[in-house]
Amino acid sequence: MPKQIKLYYKNIKSDIIGPEHGITDEQLKLLAEKTAPLISRLNEQREKGETPYRNLPYNKDTPVKVKQLADQLQDSCESFVVLGIGGSALGNIALQTALNPYMHNLDDKRRKGARLFVFDNVDPAQLSSFLDWVSDKLEKTIFNVISKSGETAETASQFLIVRQMLMDKLGPDGFKNQTVATTDKTQGTLRKIVDETGLVSLEVPQGVGGRFSILSAVGLLSAAVCGIDIDGLLAGARDMDKRVSDTDFYKNPAAINAAINYHYYNNGKRNSVMMPYCYALKDFADWYRQLWAESLGKAKDLDGNEVNVGPTPIKALGTTDQHSQVQLYREGPNDKLFTFLQVENFKKDVTIGPAPDSAPELKYLEDKKMSRLLNCEKAATEYALIISKKPCMTVLLPEVNPYTVGQLIYLFEVTTSFAGALFNINTYDQPAVELGKEATFALMGREGYEEMAGKIQPYAEIDADYIV
Ligand code: PA5
Repeated sequence: MPKQIKLYYKNIKSDIIGPEHGITDEQLKLLAEKTAPLISRLNEQREKGETPYRNLPYNKDTPVKVKQLADQLQDSCESFVVLGIGGSALGNIALQTALNPYMHNLDDKRRKGARLFVFDNVDPAQLSSFLDWVSDKLEKTIFNVISKSGETAETASQFLIVRQMLMDKLGPDGFKNQTVATTDKTQGTLRKIVDETGLVSLEVPQGVGGRFSILSAVGLLSAAVCGIDIDGLLAGARDMDKRVSDTDFYKNPAAINAAINYHYYNNGKRNSVMMPYCYALKDFADWYRQLWAESLGKAKDLDGNEVNVGPTPIKALGTTDQHSQVQLYREGPNDKLFTFLQVENFKKDVTIGPAPDSAPELKYLEDKKMSRLLNCEKAATEYALIISKKPCMTVLLPEVNPYTVGQLIYLFEVTTSFAGALFNINTYDQPAVELGKEATFALMGREGYEEMAGKIQPYAEIDADYIV
């Protein structure tokens, strides 16, 4: 089996960070007893088809369709533009940052595949800057509108803007040629538009929420068009699936990860910091932040009790945030669990140059690899946190490639399922996000939302008494 990623959890133990903040062997045993039955339960739920995201790495049709479409688009696609938000955008961004070089979009000579742009906002200044740039390149640009519901105001508005631009400049055929829609197989406004116009489309699989859809056509098409090996990604997820289905708690990295997070949440550490020491994984932390927050932040448990649970996910980046956040992390409240992502071998490395004679104090850096400095800084930060009695875990990646990133994605998806089961909540809904979407419809004057608009108005109006 190719190289596996690993979860290292020694630095949460009481013999490392003390009994007040560390987990004792006895506590770990109790966590194992509580979590072990959930492994079988999650395996059964998956067998019954209740968690379809678990089967995405095994889907044979989607990667074939995605690769065929990517091949077809190759000649007409120098830039690939995703219009989507939340689970319909964050995975696309994470894969691109992780698996393509930092200069991918700018390096016309070495780039494999199209440039990628993802619009997951409705900021007019941002979008108009892009539209100005792209307006004379439309024939070489593909727009992939992604929306499971087909209703989300941000994505719908971007789509209407782009549609009009394509119609005006290239005509109805041009609009059709340059647009791909990814949406529900049968339902929603976007599916209706696809059916009416004959747009090329892919499916968001049924029963898979946006934040769990990265390994479906949602995340795979932009990856494939931009030159990423999607088969490697799916192979990594499949191999991780075996490990996170293991009913032996001590061999199951997702179960251990979730149990430790659950323990700390219940013991005053309500914040969960993910800190990659690898720029390529910076946006993976952003993807994880949504996965964790939307899945675990819930008002009620499965028995209908008001619980208002949910660890707050925080993203940081090593070493950048050592100079921004670590002062707080060490000396502020001990209310955080830290998860580092560490890379053992970087595909490309840089050797630090010689120190000038006038600066002998820089000699310690001379001829050293930058990857060594990065990993020493990780060890140094972890040490500083440990001696301040802060619990730390590390996910070790042998290197960053499609296979290890596939493992990483699947590890955190299933960790989220275990955490949801420990909290006894519905991991897969997002009622609070839906309310905000509907309130936007109401404020923007959508028919059928008049009553809601009336309710919101008093809160949306500015009260001059409180302006200074
Ligand atoms: O994870 C989720 O379900 C959400 O973040 C959605 O992906 C996001 O709200 C966008 O929804 P849609 O794909 O329906 O436009």
